[in-house]
Amino acid sequence: MKILRTIADVRAAVREARSDGRTVGLVPTMGAFHDGHLSLMRRAREQNDLVVVSLFVNPTQFGANEDLGAYPRDEARDAALAEAEGVDILFAPPASEIYPDGFATNIHVAGLTDVLDGAARGPHHFDGVATVVTKLFGIVRPDVAYFGQKDAQQVLVVRRVVRDLDLDVRIEACPIVREADGLAMSSRNVYLDADARAQATALNRALDAAASVFEAGERDGDGILSAAGRVLADAGITPEYLELRDAMTLEPVARVEGDALLAVAAHVGAARLIDNHLLSAPKDA
Ligand code: PAF
Repeated sequence: MKILRTIADVRAAVREARSDGRTVGLVPTMGAFHDGHLSLMRRAREQNDLVVVSLFVNPTQFGANEDLGAYPRDEARDAALAEAEGVDILFAPPASEIYPDGFATNIHVAGLTDVLDGAARGPHHFDGVATVVTKLFGIVRPDVAYFGQKDAQQVLVVRRVVRDLDLDVRIEACPIVREADGLAMSSRNVYLDADARAQATALNRALDAAASVFEAGERDGDGILSAAGRVLADAGITPEYLELRDAMTLEPVARVEGDALLAVAAHVGAARLIDNHLLSAPKDA
């Protein structure tokens, strides 16, 4: 596996692969790899001739009071894990390579980014994501790019950028990978001490409780959300948001009649965690 730091080097490597007719898969990451990231790399490895993983803790998607400084960084460990997954290129640029002096472009996806994490973290968050991901697509020009469904809103935002800007890349969303007790894997789980780690299991248990009442026939949004809210309250968690939204448009859903995204965000101990479940009902049920 090659570790590349410059856009020029990545372009040269990808150009060579393309001239041989090879396909290119990209896994955009901010490092601190866990099994969720590795599952994306494995999927990319299965489907492509050349696999590029980007490792860049993107400053523009963090707010002033967020954890940019504390975000876990261990490039040597990440490189070893990526290499073991058969990744060909780890693109780990310095910030000056991505945001040179005078950088002035911002990609803003209206509507989809006004709610959930966009509302909770502020507009800079998805602007930062959309802008850096678009740059990565321009640098690597992948056939397919892989994202985790844990960041369900991010997947929708990236898909909208691709659609609206006619980018020639297929977006593949991969399933959430969970710890044995159900906690969704996240680089931020390292912030949890033992008590918070135990408390954090309530997020998935809350979503499971909501999914159970849904499977038992509940279609009313308030009924579904109450089932989840009770589990969070019992665990002493006040969610930042706990919402049911249309799985494609993120419009609010009062009654589940198609595909709905049940999404939660909460501060647990020192970590801000997100999780979600998809609920699918036939439209006439
Ligand atoms: O999901 C992430 O790790 C980041 O938001 C991404 C997509 C790599 C952009 O910085």
